[in-house]
Amino acid sequence: MSLSRKDSATSAFSRRTHRLGTENAFKIGPLIKEVEAAGHHVVKCNIGEPDFPLPRHIAEEVKRQIDADMTHYCDPQGILPLREAIARTMGERRGLRLSADRVVVFPGAKPPIGLCEQTYCDPGDEVVYPSPGFPIYESFTTYLDAAPVPVHLREEAGFGLVADDLAKVVTRRTKMIILNFPSNPTGGVATLPELQKIADVIRHQASPDVRVYSDEVYEDILFDGQAHASIASLPGMAERTVIVSGVSKSFAWTGGRVGWAVFPTADEAAVFKNLNINYFSCIPAYNQMGAKVALESPESKPVMARMMAAFRERRDVVVDGLNAIDGVTCLRQKGTFYVFPNVAGVCESIGAIEAYESLPPALRERTSPSTLFQLFLLFRHHVATMDRRSFGRIGAEGQHYLRLSIATAMDDLKLGLDRIRAAARDRDGFRAFVTEGQHLS
Ligand SMILES: Cc1ncc(COP(=O)(O)O)c(C=O)c1O
Repeated sequence: MSLSRKDSATSAFSRRTHRLGTENAFKIGPLIKEVEAAGHHVVKCNIGEPDFPLPRHIAEEVKRQIDADMTHYCDPQGILPLREAIARTMGERRGLRLSADRVVVFPGAKPPIGLCEQTYCDPGDEVVYPSPGFPIYESFTTYLDAAPVPVHLREEAGFGLVADDLAKVVTRRTKMIILNFPSNPTGGVATLPELQKIADVIRHQASPDVRVYSDEVYEDILFDGQAHASIASLPGMAERTVIVSGVSKSFAWTGGRVGWAVFPTADEAAVFKNLNINYFSCIPAYNQMGAKVALESPESKPVMARMMAAFRERRDVVVDGLNAIDGVTCLRQKGTFYVFPNVAGVCESIGAIEAYESLPPALRERTSPSTLFQLFLLFRHHVATMDRRSFGRIGAEGQHYLRLSIATAMDDLKLGLDRIRAAARDRDGFRAFVTEGQHLS
């Protein structure tokens, strides 16, 4: 079911419910199933989750904890042994002294986005966030009737967040500034000097009660000798930064639902502990014990190193393969398991821009040239990707990109590249797809 604004006057749902966006990476599942049900094998480059199993030593610990009866209610803030492990490991990496009373554990790194927005922002307060960016930033902002203020990441700046661009949008009405390095969907990473410029803008233009939400869930997915840099490490920033991470990406454990945030003070953390009490009571203690082992066991490092080596090798194959396709250019980023090719040339050559412009206005509002190409890729060439609009809609017009997840086996990725190459030349097939008109948004 989809809710449209038109229905809101008569709907059973609150007005805010009509403003909630979504994460299309989850929504595309039924479309893939539809293609598979028609007998096709789909190369899945849509999913943002590592395709590796949960490392054995973590799985064994979870099983051991279940057998030890760690299956009851537990501390709503997160069990102390895990919070201590988080404070120590996050602090060591960032050169900060963190204490366990500033840590709150959540069911994944996603829930603190909405919980922080609702805690720090009133209706009309401005939330600054990267676009393209993780879609929940924009979705929750509009849901709460806060004011969305995207900072557009530019390809020519390596999809980093340019401090001058940030300076233009931080005002007295800003209540939250969301940063995400390494970045979903672009794979952009920030160096310490770049973060220094961003921190200068924040220190000069934002009042001390503006919270910086630093989403660092990809902190371990880095290549080419890149080290993780956090804005919280810079002078004066830990006092205003909420640092967020979790086990989903680093340890291939998206189903564990363990994420966390480190707040500027213990008092602030206590507010979020109370929100947990109100919403979920607590997160399964056996998984939290598994997360502690993930963070602390010497067995984690070699497993993670093997995952990173696989991601780096796939990135090189996919980036080279994409750049060899006429009409596609793709940066070789140093982090995450995503690549974010510019497909403007293909949108032009297969007729996606022209087709988009001739659509009825109501349909145009729900789609874009890269969406049309993405759907054509899925339904006619059987590769699942994500379009630019899935990563923040406001101001995304005229930007022609796709996101491909490389968390997929190498053979499938190579097959996917062959199919994308074929699709990029299939002008007749694209025209027929648009004429048929079944899957255009
Ligand atoms: C930038 C970013 N933040 C947060 C999350 C949510 O992570 P989790 O699965 O731990 O809730 C994701 C997941 O894709 C993400 O890409």
